[in-house]
Amino acid sequence: MKLVLLGPPGAGKGTQAKMLIEKYQLPQISTGDILRQAVKDGTPLGKGAKTYMDQGKLVPDDLIVNLIKERIKAEDCKAGYIFDGFPRTVAQAEALDSLLASLATQLDAVVSINVPEDELVKRLSGRRTCKNCGALYHMLYTPPVKEGICDKCGGSLFQRSDDNEATIRQRLSVYREQTAPLIAYYTKQALVKAIPGTGDPEEIFAKVCQALSNT
Ligand code: AP5
Repeated sequence: MKLVLLGPPGAGKGTQAKMLIEKYQLPQISTGDILRQAVKDGTPLGKGAKTYMDQGKLVPDDLIVNLIKERIKAEDCKAGYIFDGFPRTVAQAEALDSLLASLATQLDAVVSINVPEDELVKRLSGRRTCKNCGALYHMLYTPPVKEGICDKCGGSLFQRSDDNEATIRQRLSVYREQTAPLIAYYTKQALVKAIPGTGDPEEIFAKVCQALSNT
């Protein structure tokens, strides 16, 4: 199965992706995670991406498309993958369509997660991530048992540098202008499964699985 998780920053794409990879045994391809790792490692990709990410802007399409081209060639992508945070622009979606067509394949579904904007700001401001295993927490909704420590692996939790209110507002504006048009793009291809993203993550996951059961 080849799946796209689409939604604004904070919609819960990463949270749902982590549950989906367990159920379907497929890799999660998060362009955000790949870019953050590249920044941390100081690679040319990371150096090129950092300024854009710090400002809440999108990294140029060519960098992202090249990254995806390489990633989906990997052995673990043979049975499919779950894109989280990609594609982000119509140009990226068109490049993905061409790439998949050249490999004689196509997407199976696009899960579009909707959450009101005020809730997105609350979620992103309170998000914490484990440095070690990547587990996600929220300081109010899903806090760890011991402050600052991951329940799953004991790693320390950190706050993403782009999760401050000014950058969050900028990311939401970029989403509205550049990413939201993808809903219409994929609706034309009859791929969209629209899921309300408010409520318990487990309940949302059940709705996602239900929507995917016929794909
Ligand atoms: P990226 O890392 O992709 O960030 P994003 O799209 O802004 O999405 P987030 O990771 O912030 O949110 P999410 O939807 O995954 O929510 P999560 O599950 O964590 O991108 C970062 C940057 O990289 C971009 O700004 C750009 O510069 C660059 N970039 C990345 N991809 C790119 C691309 N393709 N092209 C160009 N540039 C690119 O949940 C958020 C919080 O809410 C967590 O605390 C979680 O615990 C909580 N939560 C989740 N679900 C629920 C729920 N149901 N109820 C209550 N709380 C919940």
